[in-house]
Amino acid sequence: MKLTPLAPPPYKIKAVEPIYCPSREERLRSIAAAGYNTFLLPSNEVYLDLLTDSGTGAMSDYQWAGLMEGDEAYAGSVNFAHLEEAVHDIMGYRCVVPTHQGRGAEHILSKLLIKPGHYIPGNMYFTTTRLHQELAGGMFVDVIIDEAYQAQNEHPFKGNVDLEKLAYLVQSVGKEKIPYVNLQACVNMAGGQPFSMENLCTLREFCSRHEIKIILDATRVVENAHFIKTREKGYQNRSILSLMREICSLTDGCTMSAKKDALVNIGGFLALRDAELYEEAKALVVIYEGLHTYGGLAGRDLEAMARGLYEATTDDAIVAHRVQQVHYLGERLSQFDVPLVRPFGGHAIFIDAKRFLAHLAQDQFPAEALAAEIYTESGVRTMERGIVSAGRDPKTGDHYYPALELVRLTLPRRVYTQEHLDYTAEHIEHLFKRRDLIKGLRMIYEPKYLRFFQARFEPLT
Ligand code: F0G
Repeated sequence: MKLTPLAPPPYKIKAVEPIYCPSREERLRSIAAAGYNTFLLPSNEVYLDLLTDSGTGAMSDYQWAGLMEGDEAYAGSVNFAHLEEAVHDIMGYRCVVPTHQGRGAEHILSKLLIKPGHYIPGNMYFTTTRLHQELAGGMFVDVIIDEAYQAQNEHPFKGNVDLEKLAYLVQSVGKEKIPYVNLQACVNMAGGQPFSMENLCTLREFCSRHEIKIILDATRVVENAHFIKTREKGYQNRSILSLMREICSLTDGCTMSAKKDALVNIGGFLALRDAELYEEAKALVVIYEGLHTYGGLAGRDLEAMARGLYEATTDDAIVAHRVQQVHYLGERLSQFDVPLVRPFGGHAIFIDAKRFLAHLAQDQFPAEALAAEIYTESGVRTMERGIVSAGRDPKTGDHYYPALELVRLTLPRRVYTQEHLDYTAEHIEHLFKRRDLIKGLRMIYEPKYLRFFQARFEPLT
């Protein structure tokens, strides 16, 4: 694969944070002490942290300046008004409930709309989203197109909803049992794959006809807008801001983990169009997060979030460079024939662990084992996104066996340089050459919920 040169970033560096690469012996000790789960590594034992793009980005000087303008009043902080204004201006939603992060919004949304026996269709599950749906008594139903499960398939919009699957669900259970469609932008577990505007318009038409709401998971909606601009015919000359407005106008509300595309270290919100639902959401947020004008956040966090939302959506170069960095890493790895999910998505490169470690069965946790090996090889921390993340079926207690068994190399926003990406690619190449020697794992501790965070393993002998 030809390497596309990476254009210089649209920012310069004003503050630096020293990092240290532990020796191989230290890394071997650290990963064993962490039970071969990269989530359990202390970050000072990590050289490059590609675990997640969640809350790990670098804020701009304008956002940092906003921290000093935090109005820490318990009620009615001016920073909340700024956030409301930003969400209304950029996304068109009038009602905003701040939450400490994305899952806080998912919790409130699920309590608000899901009753026991409900079905919630979505374009592939996300871990916290599905768990909140299940805890509210609902059942997630996957309605993403089949191409999303084919790691090699080059479909440009693998995040699309399959309208036939959705229609079949509506026909089988009845629209009364479907409170909303959960539409995720840049589908995380599929590899950061976007939906197209065309697909969203068709979905809107279908849902309006059946009186079903669409709730957007807007966590990576800026990246989704970028892919519509660059991949979908007719949108090349549109600004990210105008695409954001159009996407959101076709939905009834959103949950947002602002730790991603809104460029902050902490924060989230639930946004709604319906004023009655908003009243109910306000009643719930005071129980679980905090008053409806702070939602578990400090005034300064609300300010950074409002500024981050504007920054991410008014300077199109920011998201363009971010996605180019991801693609550069993907192209470097492809030069070494490392098997990857195609096409490259918005926030991360996903290694296809089923093909990388073809000698391991899925219940030997190939992606978990590969993430541990990558750390031992290089000090680079990545994340498992396979059978461990998928968890167990609450009815049968069996593992879910997801079609995709992946290791995610996630790029924090505005943090690493091209040299860091080259280092990562070269070390994974070394590992790929000796992949036959990598052993599987056995799970020796399994927490009840979201097991991938805290599960512990040992190598199979
Ligand atoms: N929705 C999506 C698509 C996400 O990727 C995440 C978080 C959430 C919701 C929940 O948001 O973490 O703020 O509570 N994803 C992180 C990740 C954890 O690493 O992919 P949160």
